[in-house]
Amino acid sequence: MSSIETITSIAALRALTARIKQAGGTIGLVPTMGALHAGHLSLVESSLRATDETIPTIFVNPTQFAPGEDLDQYPRSLESDLAALEKLGVKYVFVPDNSEMYPDGCTTKIQPPVVAKKLEGEFRPHHFGGVATVVLKLLNLVQPNVAFFGQKDFQQVAVIQRMVADLNVPTRIEVCPIIRDEDGLAFSSRNVYLSDTERKIALSLHRTLDFVKEAIEEDLMDGFEMITEMRQRLIDAGVDSIDYAIIADPQTLETMDTIELPAVALLAVHVGKTRLIDNCLIQS
Ligand code: PAJ
Repeated sequence: MSSIETITSIAALRALTARIKQAGGTIGLVPTMGALHAGHLSLVESSLRATDETIPTIFVNPTQFAPGEDLDQYPRSLESDLAALEKLGVKYVFVPDNSEMYPDGCTTKIQPPVVAKKLEGEFRPHHFGGVATVVLKLLNLVQPNVAFFGQKDFQQVAVIQRMVADLNVPTRIEVCPIIRDEDGLAFSSRNVYLSDTERKIALSLHRTLDFVKEAIEEDLMDGFEMITEMRQRLIDAGVDSIDYAIIADPQTLETMDTIELPAVALLAVHVGKTRLIDNCLIQS
């Protein structure tokens, strides 16, 4: 019999968090959209290590998908997600439905900070408004001591950190490293969309990032040359199109003409019908 408690209502979630806090326990929140892979599970493990009670959430948030994006096809695997969480020793998971999170009349939206405007924001203009709104709702619902996010979504972390600071949310944001499959591809729920051939092409993302890291560490090229080289490598490998391939300041995400450390290399490309993102932080 399954021992993990699946909480679907806000009332039950609030009762649980009140119980934990009354007993003096700390809470770790791990927001996800499910289809859990090793990347998600590493966030859960970090939370289990750092806090008394870990509450992962599984909610495919409709407000962060634009019409025509993959909301309907987005992979859903609740049974195996629950089994994977239970195996790690998680006791509770919050799995609300759309009407619980967005009841009729719920029209307030967060206007995300300016760092949301570039990169992903240019290609998915409504995305971070939806992300910021649902993340703030989850932070308000759970009022965790710590919330865990992956560096995989580098700009998402920048948006959430800025929002939490600007709106005085009393939760610490912990950023966890990118977890990669054996072949180097960063785990993503969307990797299931890739054919075998596409997956081989997708490996060019991390190979390009490895190249950039090495070249910067050896001081081989200026920013402009580096970006040209990045794009060429991705195209040679067979990616269908590049939304962006840049080297930027990790705080502001402004492109750097002259590379100074720390820097972050950020990629978003299309392989077939699948859009993939990856990044690499380069420290001094
Ligand atoms: P989702 O894509 O399900 O990711 C949930 C969390 O897992 C995010 O913090 C993401 O950065 C992290 N993650 C994904 N792949 C990872 C990997 N390979 N290594 C490490 N961490 C990884 O991001 C979202 O959901 C949503 O936007 C959400 C924040 C839940 C709001 O709806």
